[in-house]
Amino acid sequence: MAFHDTTVEVMLTAEQLAARTKELGAQISKDYQGKDLTLVGIMKGSIFFLTDLARQIDLPLTMELMGLSSYQGGTETTGEVRITSDLTKPMNGRHVLVVEDIIDTGLTMQFLLENLAARHPASLKVATLLEKPSRAKVKIPIDYKGFVIEDRFVVGYGLDYGEKYRNLPFVGVMRTD
Ligand code: IMP
Ligand code: MG
Repeated sequence: MAFHDTTVEVMLTAEQLAARTKELGAQISKDYQGKDLTLVGIMKGSIFFLTDLARQIDLPLTMELMGLSSYQGGTETTGEVRITSDLTKPMNGRHVLVVEDIIDTGLTMQFLLENLAARHPASLKVATLLEKPSRAKVKIPIDYKGFVIEDRFVVGYGLDYGEKYRNLPFVGVMRTD
Protein backbone atom coordinates (compact mmCIF):
# COMPACT_ATOMS: atom_id res chain seq x y z
CA MET A 1 0.00 0.00 0.00
CA ALA A 2 1.55 3.29 -1.13
CA PHE A 3 0.84 6.61 0.64
CA HIS A 4 -1.10 7.93 -2.35
CA ASP A 5 -3.30 4.89 -3.08
CA THR A 6 -6.44 6.35 -1.54
CA THR A 7 -5.95 9.93 -2.73
CA VAL A 8 -4.64 9.72 -6.29
CA GLU A 9 -5.94 7.84 -9.33
CA VAL A 10 -3.42 7.01 -12.07
CA MET A 11 -3.96 8.89 -15.33
CA LEU A 12 -0.62 8.42 -17.14
CA THR A 13 1.67 5.59 -16.07
CA ALA A 14 5.45 5.86 -15.74
CA GLU A 15 5.71 3.68 -18.87
CA GLN A 16 3.45 6.00 -20.89
CA LEU A 17 5.42 9.06 -19.73
CA ALA A 18 8.73 7.42 -20.64
CA ALA A 19 7.53 6.29 -24.07
CA ARG A 20 6.18 9.73 -25.01
CA THR A 21 9.26 11.51 -23.65
CA LYS A 22 11.44 9.27 -25.81
CA GLU A 23 9.42 10.20 -28.91
CA LEU A 24 9.66 13.92 -28.12
CA GLY A 25 13.41 13.57 -27.50
CA ALA A 26 13.91 11.94 -30.89
CA GLN A 27 11.94 14.70 -32.63
CA ILE A 28 13.85 17.46 -30.80
CA SER A 29 17.18 15.77 -31.64
CA LYS A 30 16.24 15.90 -35.33
CA ASP A 31 14.89 19.45 -35.29
CA TYR A 32 17.89 20.98 -33.48
CA GLN A 33 20.63 19.05 -35.31
CA GLY A 34 23.68 21.33 -35.65
CA LYS A 35 22.18 24.06 -33.45
CA ASP A 36 23.15 25.31 -30.00
CA LEU A 37 20.18 24.15 -27.94
CA THR A 38 19.42 25.40 -24.44
CA LEU A 39 16.62 23.80 -22.46
CA VAL A 40 15.06 26.24 -20.00
CA GLY A 41 13.17 24.26 -17.36
CA ILE A 42 10.53 26.02 -15.28
CA MET A 43 10.77 25.19 -11.60
CA LYS A 44 9.60 23.32 -9.86
CA GLY A 45 6.98 21.48 -11.86
CA SER A 46 9.06 20.65 -14.93
CA ILE A 47 12.13 19.16 -13.26
CA PHE A 48 11.21 15.47 -13.70
CA PHE A 49 10.13 15.96 -17.31
CA LEU A 50 13.18 18.16 -17.97
CA THR A 51 15.73 15.63 -16.77
CA ASP A 52 14.03 12.70 -18.51
CA LEU A 53 13.60 14.63 -21.76
CA ALA A 54 17.19 15.88 -21.72
CA ARG A 55 18.44 12.29 -21.50
CA GLN A 56 16.46 11.41 -24.62
CA ILE A 57 17.97 14.22 -26.69
CA ASP A 58 21.06 13.19 -28.63
CA LEU A 59 22.68 16.65 -28.88
CA PRO A 60 25.30 18.62 -26.90
CA LEU A 61 22.68 20.81 -25.23
CA THR A 62 22.91 23.08 -22.19
CA MET A 63 20.33 23.35 -19.42
CA GLU A 64 19.10 26.31 -17.40
CA LEU A 65 16.42 26.68 -14.77
CA MET A 66 14.04 29.51 -14.12
CA GLY A 67 11.74 29.88 -11.13
CA LEU A 68 8.33 31.42 -11.64
CA SER A 69 5.49 31.95 -9.28
CA SER A 70 2.02 32.85 -10.45
CA TYR A 71 -0.28 34.70 -8.15
CA GLN A 72 -3.18 32.37 -7.48
CA GLY A 73 -6.78 33.44 -7.28
CA GLY A 74 -8.26 30.24 -5.82
CA THR A 75 -6.85 27.33 -7.83
CA GLU A 76 -6.41 29.50 -10.89
CA THR A 77 -3.55 31.76 -11.88
CA THR A 78 -4.34 35.45 -12.24
CA GLY A 79 -1.77 35.92 -14.99
CA GLU A 80 0.44 38.01 -12.76
CA VAL A 81 3.76 36.19 -12.74
CA ARG A 82 6.87 36.84 -10.68
CA ILE A 83 10.38 35.58 -11.49
CA THR A 84 11.64 33.99 -8.27
CA SER A 85 14.88 32.72 -9.75
CA ASP A 86 16.29 34.07 -13.00
CA LEU A 87 18.55 32.49 -15.61
CA THR A 88 22.25 32.85 -14.89
CA LYS A 89 23.34 33.07 -18.55
CA PRO A 90 22.43 35.38 -21.43
CA MET A 91 20.12 33.73 -24.02
CA ASN A 92 21.23 36.08 -26.79
CA GLY A 93 21.74 34.05 -30.00
CA ARG A 94 20.85 30.69 -28.42
CA HIS A 95 18.14 28.29 -29.56
CA VAL A 96 15.92 28.25 -26.49
CA LEU A 97 13.39 25.51 -25.79
CA VAL A 98 11.23 26.21 -22.74
CA VAL A 99 10.27 23.04 -20.85
CA GLU A 100 7.04 23.25 -18.80
CA ASP A 101 4.96 20.75 -16.86
CA ILE A 102 1.51 21.93 -17.91
CA ILE A 103 -0.14 24.71 -19.87
CA ASP A 104 -3.48 25.45 -18.31
CA THR A 105 -4.81 28.97 -18.95
CA GLY A 106 -1.57 29.76 -20.80
CA LEU A 107 -1.08 33.00 -18.89
CA THR A 108 2.17 31.88 -17.24
CA MET A 109 3.66 30.83 -20.57
CA GLN A 110 2.52 34.04 -22.24
CA PHE A 111 4.40 36.06 -19.65
CA LEU A 112 7.46 33.82 -19.95
CA LEU A 113 7.63 33.95 -23.74
CA GLU A 114 7.45 37.75 -23.73
CA ASN A 115 10.17 37.87 -21.10
CA LEU A 116 12.48 35.45 -22.94
CA ALA A 117 11.88 37.04 -26.35
CA ALA A 118 13.26 40.30 -24.95
CA ARG A 119 16.61 38.49 -24.40
CA HIS A 120 16.96 37.99 -28.17
CA PRO A 121 17.37 34.21 -28.52
CA ALA A 122 18.05 32.84 -32.04
CA SER A 123 14.79 30.90 -31.68
CA LEU A 124 12.22 30.34 -28.96
CA LYS A 125 10.00 27.25 -28.74
CA VAL A 126 7.84 25.51 -26.17
CA ALA A 127 7.77 21.92 -24.90
CA THR A 128 5.14 20.95 -22.37
CA LEU A 129 4.34 17.58 -20.86
CA LEU A 130 0.62 18.36 -20.55
CA GLU A 131 -1.93 20.72 -22.03
CA LYS A 132 -5.48 21.43 -20.81
CA PRO A 133 -6.90 23.13 -23.92
CA SER A 134 -10.38 23.50 -22.44
CA ARG A 135 -8.98 26.03 -19.97
CA ALA A 136 -6.95 28.14 -22.39
CA LYS A 137 -7.38 31.90 -22.03
CA VAL A 138 -4.63 32.81 -24.48
CA LYS A 139 -3.34 30.95 -27.53
CA ILE A 140 0.15 29.56 -26.93
CA PRO A 141 2.00 27.95 -29.85
CA ILE A 142 3.14 24.58 -28.45
CA ASP A 143 5.92 22.97 -30.47
CA TYR A 144 6.31 19.74 -28.47
CA LYS A 145 3.41 18.37 -26.48
CA GLY A 146 3.37 15.24 -24.35
CA PHE A 147 -0.34 14.70 -23.72
CA VAL A 148 -3.57 16.64 -24.02
CA ILE A 149 -5.71 16.11 -20.93
CA GLU A 150 -9.19 16.97 -19.75
CA ASP A 151 -9.89 19.65 -17.19
CA ARG A 152 -8.90 17.64 -14.09
CA PHE A 153 -6.44 18.69 -11.38
CA VAL A 154 -3.41 16.44 -11.81
CA VAL A 155 -0.42 15.69 -9.61
CA GLY A 156 2.78 13.70 -9.80
CA TYR A 157 5.88 13.61 -12.02
CA GLY A 158 6.66 17.16 -10.88
CA LEU A 159 3.11 18.50 -10.52
CA ASP A 160 2.02 19.37 -7.00
CA TYR A 161 -0.99 19.88 -4.79
CA GLY A 162 0.09 22.19 -1.97
CA GLU A 163 3.75 21.34 -2.77
CA LYS A 164 3.14 17.62 -2.23
CA TYR A 165 2.84 14.66 -4.63
CA ARG A 166 5.60 15.92 -6.97
CA ASN A 167 7.55 12.70 -6.37
CA LEU A 168 4.93 10.30 -7.74
CA PRO A 169 6.45 8.44 -10.72
CA PHE A 170 3.16 8.79 -12.66
CA VAL A 171 0.61 11.55 -13.37
CA GLY A 172 -2.60 11.10 -11.43
CA VAL A 173 -5.88 12.81 -10.63
CA MET A 174 -6.68 13.85 -7.06
CA ARG A 175 -9.66 11.83 -5.90
CA THR A 176 -12.46 14.08 -4.76
CA ASP A 177 -14.78 11.33 -3.40
P1 IMP B 1 -1.39 28.66 -16.40
O1 IMP B 1 -0.73 30.00 -16.27
O2 IMP B 1 -2.84 28.71 -16.03
O3 IMP B 1 -1.17 28.01 -17.75
O4 IMP B 1 -0.80 27.76 -15.26
C1 IMP B 1 0.30 27.03 -15.39
C2 IMP B 1 0.79 26.59 -14.04
O5 IMP B 1 -0.28 26.27 -13.13
C3 IMP B 1 1.56 25.32 -14.22
O6 IMP B 1 2.92 25.59 -14.46
C4 IMP B 1 1.31 24.59 -12.91
O7 IMP B 1 2.28 24.98 -11.96
C5 IMP B 1 -0.03 25.06 -12.44
N1 IMP B 1 -1.09 24.08 -12.76
C6 IMP B 1 -2.06 24.18 -13.69
N2 IMP B 1 -2.85 23.11 -13.72
C7 IMP B 1 -2.37 22.26 -12.79
C8 IMP B 1 -2.77 20.93 -12.35
O8 IMP B 1 -3.72 20.29 -12.83
N3 IMP B 1 -2.00 20.40 -11.35
C9 IMP B 1 -0.94 21.04 -10.80
N4 IMP B 1 -0.53 22.26 -11.18
C10 IMP B 1 -1.25 22.87 -12.16
MG1 MG C 1 4.45 25.40 -12.85
